[in-house]
Amino acid sequence: MSKVRTIQADITTLSVDAIVNAANSSLLGGGGVDGAIHRAAGTELLNECHLLGGCKTGDAKITKGYRLPAKFVIHTVGPVWRDGNSGEPELLASCYLRSMEIAAHYGIRTLAFPSVSTGVYGYPVELAARVAINTVRAQLQNFPSIQEVVFCCFSGRDLAVYAQALSE
Ligand code: AR6
Repeated sequence: MSKVRTIQADITTLSVDAIVNAANSSLLGGGGVDGAIHRAAGTELLNECHLLGGCKTGDAKITKGYRLPAKFVIHTVGPVWRDGNSGEPELLASCYLRSMEIAAHYGIRTLAFPSVSTGVYGYPVELAARVAINTVRAQLQNFPSIQEVVFCCFSGRDLAVYAQALSE
């Protein structure tokens, strides 16, 4: 059975061990999926985030999930899209890799990613989906404790892009 799948959903509703947040380097909240996660988790999440000292682009940090159905939130900071030749693919791949490393370290077996960087940060979703899927597929063998990775798309259009990329 495939360990990787895609769905269309609000990531805050998912009963997985961890959801990934597409945060900014302050880790102190924002719009998009970040705002939705903070709203659903409650103010305790922001209190814990204050203790983390921010996060570099391409890196990730973990907190508890508080009022979310997910036990943990892994906050990663994707690159802002400039022209595609400014390290964006490597930084985006690093977001997925670091999130998986942290997930494995915490014994997380089911993990859901949003489409990191493809909203406010402007990364073209067709390109980002390939980076996301290729990185996760290549790394899963290194983290056998991770049993399932879900690419959680917010829009039907994004779902179609991820489904197509997963079928290639
Ligand atoms: N569930 C799943 N996906 C969602 C949800 C949701 N509830 N809400 C939005 N998305 P974005 P970025 C999708 O902009 O591009 C924030 O202000 C959205 O449709 O949330 O990495 C942060 O604080 C898109 O496909 O993240 C940063 O400042 C994807 O999530 C900045 O935005 C990512 O869009 C990060 O920008």
